[in-house]
Amino acid sequence: MRKLLTFCFILIAATALRAQDAKMNAFISNLMSKMTVDEKIGQLNLVTPGGAVTGSVVSKDVDGKIRQGNVGGLFGITGPEKVRQAQEIAVKNSRLHIPLLFGLDVIHGHKTVFPIPLGLSCSWDTALIKESARIAATEASADGLDWVFSPMVDIARDPRWGRVAEGAGEDPYLGSQIAAAMVRGYQGNDLTKTNAVMACVKHFALYGAAEAGREYNTVDMGRISMYQYYLPPYKAAIDAGAGSVMSSFNVIDGIPATGNKWLLTDLLRNQWKFKGLVVSDYTSLNEMTAHGMGDLKTVAALAMNAGLDMDMVGEGYLTTLKQSLKEGKVTQAQIDQACRRVLEAKYKLGLFTDPYRRMNAERAEKEILSDAHREFARRIAAHSFVLLKNNDHLLPLKKSGTIALIGPLASNHRNMLGTWAVSGDPEKSISVMEGIKNVAGDAVNIIYAKGANISDDSTLVKRTNVFGPEIEPETRTPEEMLQEAVAAAEKSDVVVAVLGEAADMTGESASRSDISIPESQENLLKALVKTGKPVVLVLFNGRPLTLEWENSHVGSILDAWFGGTEAGNAIADVLFGNYNPSGKLSMSFPVSVGQIPVYYNAKSTGRPWDGKESPKFKSDYLDIPNEPLYPFGYGLSYTSFSYSGLTLDRQQITPRQPVKIKLTVSNTGNDDGEETVQLYIRDMVASVTQPVKELKRFQKVFLKKGESRNIEFTLTTNDLKFVNSNLHWVYEPGEFKVFVGGNSRDVVEGDLVGKP
Ligand code: BGC
Repeated sequence: MRKLLTFCFILIAATALRAQDAKMNAFISNLMSKMTVDEKIGQLNLVTPGGAVTGSVVSKDVDGKIRQGNVGGLFGITGPEKVRQAQEIAVKNSRLHIPLLFGLDVIHGHKTVFPIPLGLSCSWDTALIKESARIAATEASADGLDWVFSPMVDIARDPRWGRVAEGAGEDPYLGSQIAAAMVRGYQGNDLTKTNAVMACVKHFALYGAAEAGREYNTVDMGRISMYQYYLPPYKAAIDAGAGSVMSSFNVIDGIPATGNKWLLTDLLRNQWKFKGLVVSDYTSLNEMTAHGMGDLKTVAALAMNAGLDMDMVGEGYLTTLKQSLKEGKVTQAQIDQACRRVLEAKYKLGLFTDPYRRMNAERAEKEILSDAHREFARRIAAHSFVLLKNNDHLLPLKKSGTIALIGPLASNHRNMLGTWAVSGDPEKSISVMEGIKNVAGDAVNIIYAKGANISDDSTLVKRTNVFGPEIEPETRTPEEMLQEAVAAAEKSDVVVAVLGEAADMTGESASRSDISIPESQENLLKALVKTGKPVVLVLFNGRPLTLEWENSHVGSILDAWFGGTEAGNAIADVLFGNYNPSGKLSMSFPVSVGQIPVYYNAKSTGRPWDGKESPKFKSDYLDIPNEPLYPFGYGLSYTSFSYSGLTLDRQQITPRQPVKIKLTVSNTGNDDGEETVQLYIRDMVASVTQPVKELKRFQKVFLKKGESRNIEFTLTTNDLKFVNSNLHWVYEPGEFKVFVGGNSRDVVEGDLVGKP
């Protein structure tokens, strides 16, 4: 009976969907029957009048072009009034009154800024992450936007690449869960709602695998790695209903993604059945010329033939496509198809019924940066921090005594939001100093000293400050600043050193070859440690850093990433124990740059090193270990957890018979706290070599001090599939290992046999 009811429900829903689609198709066909070729090509043109842009080109005479029907969408402007003015030009003054689509980079919140995505991913809390996207959508839509260029789901294993800050780290399973959560958060279940926005999954594809971590660099990867490790998060976002996809800057198999037919048509449309809109990245169409693919006309035709619908900023389509049509290099059907997809996006967003639906000054006033949003930002920021070290329970701090609060990021607003917070106002952010005062009040005495500049390297300072003075070098000498800090430390009970990267030392076009804390601050930290006072290091960083010295010399290290608008309050909540940190790394921290790439789901070699002895002819280094400093999944708590009693309800798994994995997790410390229980597997024998560990499930559990909880995971043979030589996901029966633990290194294990 229940099955019958479900079947009827699915049937009714499918029929309703078909009817809706038929209505949309009829509307668009009718509209397109009135459009000239120029107007159709105009819809494929996405322009920006400037603002926070990432390229040298910006569009000229935008208003005029809108009037002539030469613009399909606009990005870079916000605010209900500003957006309305542009929309009015399109709706009132263009021949067919087709509304514009308004997009923007809303990456980790809109005006209420949440932690950078890498930080968010360290919460491993998909419900919170989905809520952050929901709030971002609420604010962005009130501000006039229909479309957000997020989520960024590029798997990355190289922390030299600045854009690791924008993604969810190195793991395809965690990355996929987060990608889907974000899409659902942005889009809700009805795109016509005034507080829903269309997501744009990016950067399709493999952008995170740029060689040597150098921005925009070549990607060269075998198909099996692509399918198994890099593509799943894009696919997850698409399966969650993402309305659009952005092509990436890099090449794939020698062909730039923006002109890559295998990628944009064979894989995306034919294999994955993606029905939405594909937009290029910023001038990535034009950049195919520099890649060596031909002149603008040639590369625009290449993109059209590959399946790219919309051209961001470069106006390659606008200026060449008609000629290519005449010459038979592209077809009318291709242009029609691309135009239809742009119009469909507008239709689905409800813009043809009310083009002004997302421009609501009243809602903007009430909802943007509301108390509730700020409170949520504080909560999610605290969840994103990762406690990397905590000797002798130095943290949490007592709310009494004297704290030397030291460092260029300790009393700083400018850098709290992190990279890609284009709509965020740094002045509205809470500094660490303010946060400490808010949380500890007058009970603690704070002595503040800046101690050092973020960097004394004038080239780095200049390059970092392109969007404003994130690094503000002082006129005092480094020695004077350092002495003041040391004097403050000597008068205190504990030192809290707030150090790290400036916001734009991370993000796009911010690759670094040396990923340590800048030298000026290292010198400061060494001097502080030398005083013999207990030192808590609070780190701001948009990437894993090399922290070997810090790890062996500093008492406590709290990685706070860039926490967003409420960074300072959230940091203080954690420092004083109002929130017990629970973040877990989504990306390995290398011992040194020489280890990169170092990631947990690596493969065994034919000569694996057992980590104990150092014999000749094993896969190792002469001078550094193979293991990262802090592994994937790692993160401490003020309490401690133990894992025991791993059992499987059956030793054999079959396609019809899943297996339940059970164990007990206990809070063995002195505080209540949250643990992320992680389940990994290893396929011991397969037709394609498999990683030594792969994350398959995780669960967050909150345990009171002294409490134990039985945890249960269910695995099916679907979870044991891998990509074989024919590029099919397959399950091969055989021997498996199951591991459970609080990080990818420290686990308890069991055996499982896979049967046909
Ligand atoms: C970035 C994209 C971004 C676009 C528009 C590009 O440089 O790669 O992530 O969405 O600019 O701002």
